[in-house]
Amino acid sequence: MEAYLSEWLSLIIRWFHVIAGVAWIGASFYFVWLDNHLREPPDWKKQKGIKGDLWAIHGGGFYEVAKYRLGPEQMPRELHWFKWEAYSTWLSGMALLFVVYYMGSPGYLIDPSKAQLSGGAAIAIGLGTLLAVMVIYEALIRSPLADNGKAFGLVLFAILVLVSWGLFQVFSGRGAYIHVGAVIGTIMVANVFLGIIPAQRALVGAVARGEEPGERVAHLAALAKLRSTHNNYLTLPVIFIMISNHYPLFYSHPHGWAILAAIGFITAYARHYFNLRHQDINKPSILVIAGVLTIALIWALAPAPRPAPQQTSNQPAVTDADIQTLMDTHCIACHAPEPSHPAFQAPPAGIALQDLSLLLQHRDKVRQSAVNSHYMPLGNPTGMTEDERQALGRWLDEQ
Ligand code: HEC
Repeated sequence: MEAYLSEWLSLIIRWFHVIAGVAWIGASFYFVWLDNHLREPPDWKKQKGIKGDLWAIHGGGFYEVAKYRLGPEQMPRELHWFKWEAYSTWLSGMALLFVVYYMGSPGYLIDPSKAQLSGGAAIAIGLGTLLAVMVIYEALIRSPLADNGKAFGLVLFAILVLVSWGLFQVFSGRGAYIHVGAVIGTIMVANVFLGIIPAQRALVGAVARGEEPGERVAHLAALAKLRSTHNNYLTLPVIFIMISNHYPLFYSHPHGWAILAAIGFITAYARHYFNLRHQDINKPSILVIAGVLTIALIWALAPAPRPAPQQTSNQPAVTDADIQTLMDTHCIACHAPEPSHPAFQAPPAGIALQDLSLLLQHRDKVRQSAVNSHYMPLGNPTGMTEDERQALGRWLDEQ
């Protein structure tokens, strides 16, 4: 019953999280686009303090958007803020982290071959990392480093790579990836909560009092701009991480942290192309370099060709009965129509493996997750050995 209810809980939170995330990132993409497409307004608008003009058609109607240099003469009766998208994405993301990784199957987070962590220790490391990186980021953005955008970008990237490497040493690949995602998401939401919204509040306060926004407001606005630029570059990597849990190829690779760093760099760099283009700077070389780096990564991660059968003939023969025993020992607790493992109500990933014909149906995924990588059995509670993995690989080759 518990596993059954937790499936529902995780579905509802995940669904909400995705919708909130779409709203947050959608609004953020829209406003970046908007800012970059503002054109010089006609004189009568300029006189009202409008600095950018934009017309659009959507949903069967014309829209006229005006951006003020500072603010309107009078506070509008209703002013829309965009913050709950960010807050609800983060809150639902944290809830999901608890339900799936902290309270769900420990195998998602803990890999005993890396570190024999207790549940409590793993949670402390996870939450401690989120908090620590957020505090470091907040200290940096208040330091002189904030005056040098490029250097800040490099330092931030280096910190995230270090976090990725560190978490990879103690957590399962998947657990490490999701925590890097949570670290980035936490930095992003803190940017909204601690920087962008206070700066907006200061600006709105000045306009409401009918004052010309002073130096303090301008300084806050400049920092808010830096924070929002960081968020903009972090969106593509964070979305990659959120979908990466479908791809053990990356996170269960022995150098999964480095792959994450490479993909993070490539996606943020590709974002740079679009940011420049929005400002009418066209640098296709960026996309070409991103493309070449992607191809290099695809090449670097390609599995080694399998040895021809004659080279393996001196290995002991693997019988069907051996493989059946192996499945019964290491897989069936979870991958059965009615799993005996308490964390699962239905076969995970929809894959049941109670007989060998089913195993063959899923041969490519089985090879990837149990032979080429150590992703399966999840958390390896039954201690599947390297010899057993090789035997499974040879048996699959022979079929
Ligand atoms: C402790 C429970 C557990 C055990 C034991 C287990 N698995 Fe899994 N398996 C899972 C879960 C959970 C998923 C879904 C993971 C995900 O969403 O990425 C999964 C997913 C898979 C997948 C799909 C991976 C993909 O790329 O979509 C395969 C294949 C698989 N397991 C094979 C095996 C094999 C083979 C064994 C035995 C050697 C095994 N599993 C043992 C829990 C388990």
